[in-house]
Amino acid sequence: VSPYLFRYKRRNFLVKDEMRPKDLDALQHFELRPTDIFLVTYPKSGTTWLQQVLVQIMEAAHPDWAEDVTNRTRVPWLEERNADNPLRERSDPRIFGSHLPPDMLPQGVKAQRLKIVYVWRNPKDVLVSFYHFAHSWVLLETPKSFEDFFQQFLDGDVYMGSWFDHVREYQETRDQLDIHFVQYERMLKDLRGEVVKLCAFLGKDLTEEAVDHVVEMSTFKNMKTNPKANYKDLVETKRYSAKTMRKGIAGDWKNVFTVAQDEHFDKEFKKKMSNVPLSCTWE
Ligand code: PPS
Repeated sequence: VSPYLFRYKRRNFLVKDEMRPKDLDALQHFELRPTDIFLVTYPKSGTTWLQQVLVQIMEAAHPDWAEDVTNRTRVPWLEERNADNPLRERSDPRIFGSHLPPDMLPQGVKAQRLKIVYVWRNPKDVLVSFYHFAHSWVLLETPKSFEDFFQQFLDGDVYMGSWFDHVREYQETRDQLDIHFVQYERMLKDLRGEVVKLCAFLGKDLTEEAVDHVVEMSTFKNMKTNPKANYKDLVETKRYSAKTMRKGIAGDWKNVFTVAQDEHFDKEFKKKMSNVPLSCTWE
């Protein structure tokens, strides 16, 4: 594993981040509220996008919830060291973002059946997005080459570990959780339809106009220029320097993978995911 990462409970975490194993363990007992919502993703799968969608849905459903703050503040990251700052004090409903696998989430999420929105994306596009991100985010090692990163991704030697494990584990535990799966590619094809499904899952009864507004606010084009949604404040600080809104499309992997890499990836996918009942609409 890269010197930028340390391994804990079969996953990889950031050496330059402040979270240490004891902090990750402490999250098991993180104090929860019955209205808490968790947005969970493997990195580069649509976290930033869903943050915006969820914030817009909640603001439409609870106008008094609106605050003039960035989504990063509104949807705080669970696995951040300073986890007891404003996180615990926020007004309900709170939304937390996380890349953690199911066994590392606070125990109460399962016990109290708190709502989880899980976003996943064609892993080939995740890989390409991750590769570019690793060039721009200072907490990650810059890949030596695409070939190297390709193999690291397949081996799970990247931040947060294996994509295959992450997606499989959430599929395997879905009956024990109150979880709603969202696929990045379906959002691209029919954002409105996915927003309506999310509203139903979250029990939010929005007017047609309010749904239209959520959709309008959550397009790639609008998010790219909206500093509350695109992490502009972080992009401008040295420590976090990272490009979040890159292309926002499906199938970019075709511009990067060789035919041999594509075949190799498909083989690995079959091997690792053969028992996972996934319905995919990938290109
Ligand atoms: S992170 O760093 O893990 O939080 O990254 P994450 O937000 O999960 O994923 C980043 C990719 O999501 C794309 N994105 C979008 N695509 C379509 N529409 C909208 N509104 C949108 N917002 C973010 C973003 O561009 C990254 O994908 P790539 O392929 O790199 O462009």
